[in-house]
Amino acid sequence: MPAELNHTIVHAEDPVASATFLTEVLGLDPPVPFGPFQVVVTGNGASLDFIDAGGEPFDSQHYSFLVTDDEYPVVRDRVLARGLDTWGDPGRTEPGGEYRHNGGTGFYFCGPSGHFLEIQTRPYL
Ligand SMILES: [Fe+2]
Repeated sequence: MPAELNHTIVHAEDPVASATFLTEVLGLDPPVPFGPFQVVVTGNGASLDFIDAGGEPFDSQHYSFLVTDDEYPVVRDRVLARGLDTWGDPGRTEPGGEYRHNGGTGFYFCGPSGHFLEIQTRPYL
C-alpha cells in the first residue's frame, strides 16, 4: 500500500477558533480535542491537528481542500458570508476571482491564523 498522509500539525493563534472555522466552512464534523490538539478530520481521513503556537511567530502554510462540484458553491458561499477576501490565484492578484483549469474551479482565502487556504474541485494530478 502506498503511504498515506495521516496528519499534519497546524500552528494557530487560537486552535479552537481556527479548527472550528475550518470545519464550519468545509462542512466537516466539529474538531476533536486530542491532547494539545484540535483535530480536524478531512473526508479522506487525513487530519489537520491545530496547536497553540504559544505566542511564537509561525509561517503561513498552504492547505487545499478538494470538494465536489455540488459542494463547491456551498463552501464558497460560506466563505463569502464571513466577509473574507478571496482570490482566484495564489499570487493574490485576482481579488474575488475563481480559477478554472484542470476541468475544475477553485479559489483562495485566508484562515483565522493566516494560513492560505484553497478550495478546488479537481486535483492537479
Ligand atoms: Fe494549492
